[in-house]
Amino acid sequence: MKFPVKTIAVDNFKTDGVAICIFENELAKGPSASINKSLKGHLKRAMKAQSFTGKEGQVLSINTLGLHKAGAIVALGLGKEKYLTTEKIRRAAASGASAMLKAGISNFAVDLASKSLNKITPAILAQAVVEGVYLTSYSFDSLKSEKEKKKIDSVTLLSGKKGDEAKVKNGAKKGMILAGSACFARDLINLPGNVVTPSYMAEQAKKIALKHRMRCSVLGPGAIKRLKMGGLAGVARGSKEPARFIILEWMKGDKSQKPIVVVGKGLTFDTGGISLKPSGDMHEMKSDMSGGAAVLGILQAAAMLKLKVNLVGLVPATENMPGGQATKPGDVLTAMSGVTMEILNTDAEGRLILADGLAYAGRYKPDCVIDIATLTGACMVALGSHASGLFSNNEKLLNQILQSGEETGERLWPMPVWQEHEDDLKSDVADLKNIGPRGGGASTAAAFLKKHVKGKWAHIDIAGTAYSNKMSHYIKKGGVGLGVRLMIDFIEKRAKL
Ligand code: BES
Ligand code: MN
Ligand code: ZN
Repeated sequence: MKFPVKTIAVDNFKTDGVAICIFENELAKGPSASINKSLKGHLKRAMKAQSFTGKEGQVLSINTLGLHKAGAIVALGLGKEKYLTTEKIRRAAASGASAMLKAGISNFAVDLASKSLNKITPAILAQAVVEGVYLTSYSFDSLKSEKEKKKIDSVTLLSGKKGDEAKVKNGAKKGMILAGSACFARDLINLPGNVVTPSYMAEQAKKIALKHRMRCSVLGPGAIKRLKMGGLAGVARGSKEPARFIILEWMKGDKSQKPIVVVGKGLTFDTGGISLKPSGDMHEMKSDMSGGAAVLGILQAAAMLKLKVNLVGLVPATENMPGGQATKPGDVLTAMSGVTMEILNTDAEGRLILADGLAYAGRYKPDCVIDIATLTGACMVALGSHASGLFSNNEKLLNQILQSGEETGERLWPMPVWQEHEDDLKSDVADLKNIGPRGGGASTAAAFLKKHVKGKWAHIDIAGTAYSNKMSHYIKKGGVGLGVRLMIDFIEKRAKL
């Protein structure tokens, strides 16, 4: 997919289709007036007939029947002008792309010249449009004999000022890198557990490292044991697939700058182990490595964007299987941090492997550690699929991540980790038990993780947001690729780039 940039006015650009943005009840503003004139009033009539007023989410497609240089016009409602956000642009671009595809149009243009859009900088505007289109045109068909035929080839960005051309180009490029890396994560999530094994994830990490010249180490069962990663080893016991601990280092910041460490849960298939899950939706547990996929995507994007930061990605990767050697309820494991953990439910395995990831992160003397994990059904119950849960021991860090969530559309909601949640994890036989009481499951899981960190830390529970059962705006069914755009935005802010 290509996103060329042109500074030609929308009325002079020959294309199969053009998408124009319209604010609520502002039909006279922007390009619609001149287009309406070329169409002899047809645009306005069509809007009226279909009650198109420019409300957020509205889409109107019309064929220009040779009256305009663009074969089709797709009008996109953005809502009230003063409430414009980049997320609304992203979603509108997604609707526009879907409408074009529906009309069989693979090459179209998006008009960005309108003055009213200028409250968002040209680069950010272009980035949002590209992200919306790119993420919408994703389809997971690599395992199908018949591939998706309707594809978008090129989307020309029509920018107003000649002087903005370079900024628009840069924004578009950034959008492609970010959406591309999110789609890389989507593929890893959507591919089944018999393809995406811990070793497969490690191979993907090595490929990224080789391509972008960064350091990558992959620890196998021997090294995992030597490092006393008892959580990861304990979860992996029930599986024939050997565990991997993946380390990616992108150290392009100042030597004096402490690294940001991101840790992703890489559970390539979660059966629940001996505390076996019900079979109904178990297949969806191929997505339990979504946090790990995000971490690989984040490192790839950071490299492609040439971010001058010190960034480390860690992915503890394993299956959770009920094999003959599997960890049993009542067993006690010792994490890398030295904390002993009584396993009362083998399905609460994410926290066990993350415990070792978080302890390992401490080796870098990091600025902060962020973990991303499909950790608890409880978080999904609390927030649904509309926000990820955010937990932190540092207010400033929490607010920075919340802010990035708003800007990227990867929204989060703050959740508590109180002393009481930590108390809920007191074990009769070990330092901690791996489950708490029935209520507050997302917070007790976070409290469990907190026991393994020193320093500034945040935990993002993406159990409800990582995988989608329905299509909505730029999200397709399946893996969302959540966390890549969010974390890159956060990293840029944190490192003041
Ligand atoms: N991977 C699951 C959490 C999950 C559930 C992710 C649904 C996505 C959708 C996790 O390993 C798990 O099984 N958690 C248990 C913890 C419980 C046993 C304390 C849960 O949430 O039921
Ligand atoms: Mn589980
Ligand atoms: Zn899990």
